[in-house]
Parts: sequence; structure tokens; C-alpha cells
Amino acid sequence: MGNTNMAKRTAVVTGAASPRGIGVAAARQFAAAGWAVVLVDRDLQGANAAAADINRTAGVQALAVPCDVTNEASVQQAAQRVRQEADLPTVGALANIAGVPEPATFSELSLEKWNRVLAVNLTGTFLMCKAFVPQMMAQRYGRIVNMSSITAFTGGGIFSKSAYAAAKAGIVGFTRGLARDLAPYAITANAVAPGVVDTDIRMGTTDEIEHSLSGAVPLGRQASAAEIAALFVWLCSENAGYITGTTQHINGGSYFG
Ligand SMILES: NC(=O)c1ccc[n+]([C@@H]2O[C@H](COP(=O)([O-])OP(=O)(O)OC[C@H]3O[C@@H](n4cnc5c(N)ncnc54)[C@H](O)[C@@H]3O)[C@@H](O)[C@H]2O)c1
Repeated sequence: MGNTNMAKRTAVVTGAASPRGIGVAAARQFAAAGWAVVLVDRDLQGANAAAADINRTAGVQALAVPCDVTNEASVQQAAQRVRQEADLPTVGALANIAGVPEPATFSELSLEKWNRVLAVNLTGTFLMCKAFVPQMMAQRYGRIVNMSSITAFTGGGIFSKSAYAAAKAGIVGFTRGLARDLAPYAITANAVAPGVVDTDIRMGTTDEIEHSLSGAVPLGRQASAAEIAALFVWLCSENAGYITGTTQHINGGSYFG
């Protein structure tokens, strides 16, 4: 964290290692908006590279913290690391973006696959909130934005199927409950439900699948990671303080809610 301007607050972003991913795009945009950022990911090398680049280009504090969001001890250690970092301002925003897809159809779906997709997407979001929300409650300020998906509403598409849909629908319900529980502390909680986004999450799928995913979108293209990231950052802005418990659809016209 060599080249730094002092930010007013810190944004913690999970899933922030994949160079073309939504988490890294969100960390960049939080930094551009003047937040200090903590990049949380199981891939420390990727998170470190993104943090160094953000520090160099945006000039705010950017810290990479290794963490498996499915593991409570790992998440608690990450929170402790952030609390101990004297240079970082208090955490004002938590963007739970880490996630994995699950393309198995019902017949192909094993209990192991089911547990894995729920653990990363849904339990990971819960564990991160358990670790970072108490400080927000104490300071009576906070913004939480959780990553859902259009799949929660459509039940699946060409690529992601029912287990992923269940995890992402769970996030919608959890976020609504959080919004109710945390409103007395002036903490907002919202979910973002993108359609298809041009990242490496479907690495290995065929061009044919990618074209049919884009072709099914009324606007005729996939979203960029930056377009989704911008919504996360805006939901954490001062101007978004009266929005809570919502799920924001961002899908190029594929689904209207
Ligand atoms: N790309 C899309 O089309 C799309 C659409 C809707 C929703 N989403 C959701 O957006 C989020 C980000 O997706 P992306 O496309 O940027 O994916 P990505 O694969 O580029 O990035 C996901 C990141 O999450 C991290 N991660 C995975 N498991 C983890 C764990 N257990 N602990 C910590 N980090 C972990 C990965 O290391 C990676 O950096 C996911 O939750 C995904 O489900 C993506």
C-alpha cells in the first residue's frame, strides 16, 4: 500500500481475483470513487495483482486478503486481518461477489455439487456478513450488496441450472431478511441479479454457447463486468441510502422482474 490517498471508508469485495471478473471491476470502481478496498479471494496471487494495480492507478489503499468464503475460520481470519490493518478506514461497504456456477441438470446433480454451489454462493455470503456486519452495527452505518443472478428468477438457462438457481434465490431471501434486521442500524442490504456477463466464469464453454447466450438477450450482447460493478458501487453510495431489501435486475431486457 505504498502510494495512498486517505479514503473515508473501506469497501470489502469478495471474488476479487479474476482479472476479467465482476469483483475486480467492482474493486476498481470503488477505488475510483475514493473508497479504500479490500480484495478477498481464495486466489491470493490474483487478488494481490489486482490490489497492486489499483493502488498504483487509483492511489487508494488496496489490500488483498486470502480467504475461502465457505470456511468460517478463514472468513473470521480475514475480518481480523482487516481490523488489524491500522491504515484502513472502517468498513462501510461489503460486496459479496464470490460465486461459482453449476451447469449440472437435475439428473446430473449430485449432493456434492449441490452442497458446493450453495456453500460458495449462499453460505459464503452469510459467513462474510457474520464477520463484517457487527462493526457496521456498532458504527450504525453500512451498505451490503449481494450477488444474485437472473437464474434465481428463470430457474436456469443454457448454462446454469437448478442448484445455482436455488443458491441465487436464497441470496434474494437472505438479503430481504438482512434488510429488515439491519435497518435499525442504518445499514442497507440489496441484491444484484445480472443476466449474462462477459467474464471468465464460463471458461471452457464453446463459442456456440456464448453466441446463443448473447443472442437470447434483447439488447443483443452480454453485459460487461464494469456495467455490473457500477451498480454495486452506486448501491453503496450516499445517494442510495433509502434503497434496501431490493433485488436490482440488470440483464439487457432478458427479464423484467
Ligand atoms: N458472469 C456471469 O454471467 C454472471 C451472471 C450472473 C451472476 N454472476 C455472479 O457474479 C459473481 C462473479 O462472477 P464472475 O463472472 O466475475 O466470475 P469469475 O469466475 O470471473 O470470478 C469469481 C471469483 O470468485 C472467486 N471465488 C470462487 N470461489 C471462492 C471461494 N470459495 N472463496 C473466495 N473466493 C472464491 C474466484 O477465485 C474468482 O476470483 C458470481 O457470484 C456469479 O455467480 C455472474
